[in-house]
Amino acid sequence: MREVDRVIAERLSTSVPLIGQISHYIIAAGGKRLRPALLLLVCGALGYEGAQRFNLAAVVELIHTATLLHDDVVDESTLRRGRATANESFGNPASVLVGDFLHTRSFQMMVEAGSMRIMEILSAATNVIAEGEVMQLINMHDASLDEEGYLRVIRSKTAKLFEASAQLGAILANSNPTVEAACATYGQALGTAFQIIDDVLDYAGNSAEMGKNIGDDLREGKATLPLIAAMQRGTPAQAAIVREAIEQGSTESLDTVVTIVKETGALQVARAAAAAEAERAIAALQHLPTNPHAASLLQLAAQLLDRRH
Ligand code: IPE
Ligand code: IPE
Ligand code: MG
Ligand code: MG
Repeated sequence: MREVDRVIAERLSTSVPLIGQISHYIIAAGGKRLRPALLLLVCGALGYEGAQRFNLAAVVELIHTATLLHDDVVDESTLRRGRATANESFGNPASVLVGDFLHTRSFQMMVEAGSMRIMEILSAATNVIAEGEVMQLINMHDASLDEEGYLRVIRSKTAKLFEASAQLGAILANSNPTVEAACATYGQALGTAFQIIDDVLDYAGNSAEMGKNIGDDLREGKATLPLIAAMQRGTPAQAAIVREAIEQGSTESLDTVVTIVKETGALQVARAAAAAEAERAIAALQHLPTNPHAASLLQLAAQLLDRRH
């Protein structure tokens, strides 16, 4: 992971000061570096030790960072990784354009892997992420979104990059199609569980621990699983309050909505859905060899459910 950070720092070099300033601002703030970790763990589990793994791990983290820069503009978020978002500090135009710089730099780096297959997976993944964010935009303030529609969005905007990260590890290791598909499934299921928990933490989390504001999803009128489950399980009056909050996108009723989400058991419903995805991830690992890296992949899926940031 140190090597991944070194590659990222090296590849952010540019003669345009504002690009260096903003990209350093968000990358140096930390972040869990989960997607590169996933790629490296899969490489480790499958016995690939070539230098290309660091390059591609840096690529997936840069893609992730670019989507965060854009996502925070779209979501009008003000806190990320424990500090003011780039849009808050430098403005929307600079965030969007530096996000584009990171995206395109990641494409320059993936070309260096010299593999059409790798290009295919990463270009498809970035395209699907964009589709997911646009689908979410269209769904905004739509209280009739069901669990299926919600899952379609999160599999695109979040799980796809986890899927690509794990699959790339298998491709680098020259795995057979069964193992490659198992790694892709593991990443997809893990990423889905990851986003469901993120959506739970938006109601049940702690802003200081998470490094981002809670309640942002409601303010934006995002019908995430906790709200969908609360409307299904609540009394007609409770369902009406949640529906109205999604449609208005105001945080005035946040406290009431949080109470409803908790009282109706909606958080447990969402956590159970995440647990089922984590189980699916773990089941896919049966196609991998038994070794410490594979054990870490298993642990990652199991511990994800209890994450607080
Ligand atoms: C945030 O991702 C965006 C989501 C998909 C929920 P992370 O929670 O992985 O963000 P960092 O990189 O650790 O800050
Ligand atoms: C994740 O969605 C954003 C992307 C995967 C691009 P969210 O909007 O829920 O992520 P946070 O909560 O801002 O980190
Ligand atoms: Mg967001
Ligand atoms: Mg969120």
